[in-house]
Amino acid sequence: MNTEVTPEKVSVIASEPDPVLGYRSFQFGEFKFTRDAYFVHISWPKGVHTMEVDRFLRAMVRDIGWGFFYGWIFFDDVFGTQNHYGTVDIYAGTYSKGHKETGVDYLETYNTDDVRVAFETISKDWINEGYDPLSAPLETGSPLGAKQQEASGPLIRGFEPARRMLGLAGDVQPRSDETGHPINRAFADLDYDLPDIEAEPGFEDQIHAINLFDHIARADVTWNPSFTSITRACICCVTSEEHMLPVIHGNDRNEWFIQLTDEIHWNIQDKNSGNPRGRIVMKSGDICAMPADIRHQGYSPKRSMLMVLENGTPGLEEKYATGELEPFPITASRW
Ligand code: PHB
Ligand code: FE
Repeated sequence: MNTEVTPEKVSVIASEPDPVLGYRSFQFGEFKFTRDAYFVHISWPKGVHTMEVDRFLRAMVRDIGWGFFYGWIFFDDVFGTQNHYGTVDIYAGTYSKGHKETGVDYLETYNTDDVRVAFETISKDWINEGYDPLSAPLETGSPLGAKQQEASGPLIRGFEPARRMLGLAGDVQPRSDETGHPINRAFADLDYDLPDIEAEPGFEDQIHAINLFDHIARADVTWNPSFTSITRACICCVTSEEHMLPVIHGNDRNEWFIQLTDEIHWNIQDKNSGNPRGRIVMKSGDICAMPADIRHQGYSPKRSMLMVLENGTPGLEEKYATGELEPFPITASRW
């Protein structure tokens, strides 16, 4: 549901650096964030929660980069954000049955920009050079230990858009050998032959085709969808996935997955309670639709390629939230 009232502006407050470990602590609204060598501790009135620093940072940079995405981003079973497209909730325990029943759940709503600035400020202070939370764990350094030097690279990069349809004149291919995006080690055995293009005379500079595998295989990040195409509200993203989706995504609409290579194992839970709803093992060529009332997390034992299709129609989330639309894209009676 869209939040009607715009909340007051909230600024993140930083402490002095910890004299031993060097990291700052932060307060944002009623939430407090501290990190030590191994963990992040989040506290709020009546509660406190601890999670591994790696897990926290991998989720946080994606949450920022994806503009808080569609629906819910759970950093783990307890803590996360919900996007209201203009405002964002930060919650702890709100969708955890145990926290709810014990009455220690907590939620605050902020302006999207304030949350973005707060999360960027925290990430910047807590991410050291040599650790990239967008990379697969086997392809980056460790986030553990005391503060060294703050990372300087473009850490919180979400999507790297092509400037022009891939391959057409004017396209600065973001992914090529020349721009330092070699084929990932896991995809060295794929065929990268180019498609045949037979344009009618006069249309040579307007029609083109690429080998999409070549494009995806050069992604230097994992679980970070990049757009392939957007046609009105139809968003098609391709991704290169290794290790686990660093967030648990709660849908506020349907989304479709097409497994392009290898396999991903998905845990599917009820969105509100977290109770198990299903398991899917998607193998190359499999297609599935994730309903609008679940949360899910994927595990990719080996780097794989996935295509994700989202319907970005504004207001769709309300139609699902009010029950105007059923949570499944297709029900058997409609066939
Ligand atoms: C998802 O939550 O559906 C999702 C997010 C990131 C990915 C793939 C899927 O890379
Ligand atoms: Fe999802």
